[in-house]
Amino acid sequence: MVGIMSAMQEEIQALLNHTENTKTYTKGKRNYYTGTLFDKEVVLVFSRWGKVASATTATQLINDFNLNELIFTGVAGSVNSDVNIGDIVIGKNLVQHDMDTFPLYETFEIPLLQKTFFETHPFKREQLSKASQEFINNYKQLISEKEAIKLNIHNPSIFIGDIASGDQFVSKPDQVNFITSNLNSVLCVEMEGAAVAQVCYEYDVPFSIFRIISDKANDNALVDFPRFVSKIASNYSLQVFKNYFLL
Ligand code: ADE
Repeated sequence: MVGIMSAMQEEIQALLNHTENTKTYTKGKRNYYTGTLFDKEVVLVFSRWGKVASATTATQLINDFNLNELIFTGVAGSVNSDVNIGDIVIGKNLVQHDMDTFPLYETFEIPLLQKTFFETHPFKREQLSKASQEFINNYKQLISEKEAIKLNIHNPSIFIGDIASGDQFVSKPDQVNFITSNLNSVLCVEMEGAAVAQVCYEYDVPFSIFRIISDKANDNALVDFPRFVSKIASNYSLQVFKNYFLL
């Protein structure tokens, strides 16, 4: 079974609308929906926001369902000038930018694991990249032109790169400078991926993640982020999953 987690209810709802034979299990204030999505057995869950919410949800998902992979989807803020709103970032290495136990351990290192970066599954991230490319090739037919213009989206690109997670909505230059100067491979920031990556590493479950850029982690982030989430993001992830499962 494929576990699909998102930090956005809208994305889970869009997937649920295409899922057949659904059954719902409720635990720890989360709804886990099992069913068949584009011919695949899946379990869908809205994780809520932040590292604790997503780590507990991932643990429940792994313990209660027989997962052969876990995929996380959601939006993220870009911290790289080449990565724009509407682009897709497929995670390569995930890091927790607010982990700091220095001088006990190095800054960003996860205590007792001797790890700073959690790598995603190489084959699955390539498959996600192909599925995303297929969507991008046809994006004009799949998302509203009016909304694309408002958010300045034209010819979105796909990046495979590093993602930083922390319990912060990043919108100020100081936050961005801290992350980019200490972790210079990071393309975008969000609040869950590296926590879920750690849980998957500890339970030995193949993990992959794709994030759609909703904002540029700046002053405009609080305007761009909700607009992108409500108007565009759900459609992106639905189409990427369709291609991922059917191609
Ligand atoms: N998710 C989407 N945009 C974000 C941002 N700017 N900071 C943290 N998480 C995000």
